[in-house]
Amino acid sequence: MHDGFGRTIDYLRLSITDRCSLRCTYCMPEDGVQWLPHGEILRYEEILRLVRVFAAIGVKKIKITGGEPLVRKGVSGLISEIKAIDGIEQVTLTTNGVALKEQLPDLLSAGIDGINLSLDTLDRARFAEITRRDALPRVLEGLETAWNVPGLNLKLNCVAQAGRASDWAALAGLAKEHNIAVRFIEPMPIGLGGDMETCTETDIRAVLETAYGTLEPFDAVLGNGPSKYFTLPDFQGKIGFISAVSHQFCDQCNRVRLTATGYLKTCLQYDVGADLRPLLAGSDEELQAAIKAAIQNKPKAHRFSEKTVENREAHIMSQIGG
Ligand code: GTP
Ligand code: 5AD
Ligand code: SF4
Repeated sequence: MHDGFGRTIDYLRLSITDRCSLRCTYCMPEDGVQWLPHGEILRYEEILRLVRVFAAIGVKKIKITGGEPLVRKGVSGLISEIKAIDGIEQVTLTTNGVALKEQLPDLLSAGIDGINLSLDTLDRARFAEITRRDALPRVLEGLETAWNVPGLNLKLNCVAQAGRASDWAALAGLAKEHNIAVRFIEPMPIGLGGDMETCTETDIRAVLETAYGTLEPFDAVLGNGPSKYFTLPDFQGKIGFISAVSHQFCDQCNRVRLTATGYLKTCLQYDVGADLRPLLAGSDEELQAAIKAAIQNKPKAHRFSEKTVENREAHIMSQIGG
């Protein structure tokens, strides 16, 4: 369907849990996070019913997110059931990679169409500093297992941290020998991300070009998200940039989000949308009407650069799913 600005909305980011096995500094506090009580989290049957309703109004692509989605039991079963829904063409997953090695076989059997792995550094001590967990070896095992799967659409997400040129160069280097996309994400001022020092695509490009040569635009579509892609000489994979701050892409926005509690969030930056959970007691028609009304009112764009923004999202990123 179309929103009030004529954008086609066909992509749903489905957060299935607020829990995570890591504690990235820009995403979650070290302790004191209040987990959602189990009773407030949508059951898989409820999620499937909602996905059917979204599919009926034109959603074709689903991204499973968290927290960390692989900490919830039965994710692969959920994915295969979502894949069987009429109208759903693609189901992909964004994970921190900690449990990827163990779960990859089941995800592949479920028919997962792509995996994005979040990884900000290849340095073990630095990884432990960012995530507050010494888990880099497990994540790398997951990554290596995944890049050995022929034809798997695999991408890395690096939230770029100011001044970490050596991290960027090392991560980008993975795309030289492997057919994966390494994407650099500008820090967004959502939740704890607001405390991060800014770091732009221009800063990162300069470092990568010094290390590897000129980035040439790559025009083919590689996903359903806002990343722009580039090639580098002798690289098998691609380099991507998700530059929401320096190159706003809201006019191309194709997505909405459903939180683990069933709140339909129509833009990353604002706490606006519709609470669908109470409507589960009613009919599919009522759900559909509420979803359509919320999408009709989807905000035009983020206003990351403004200090005071009405309805600003108060949740942290782990409760939204990125
Ligand atoms: P694909 O490329 O299709 O796999 O998806 P994606 O890039 O949309 O998904 P992913 O979960 O890997 O998200 C990567 C980064 O993009 C995260 O930091 C997200 O928060 C960010 N992102 C995803 N969608 C949006 C969006 O609509 N607006 C903004 N500002 N950032 C987004
Ligand atoms: N800015 C940009 N990206 C973020 N992510 C989490 N918090 C932020 C932020 N403040 C990323 C994660 C993951 C994706 C879902 O969102 O690293 O790759
Ligand atoms: Fe879409 Fe909002 Fe993201 Fe802009 S900030 S791309 S409108 S979700």
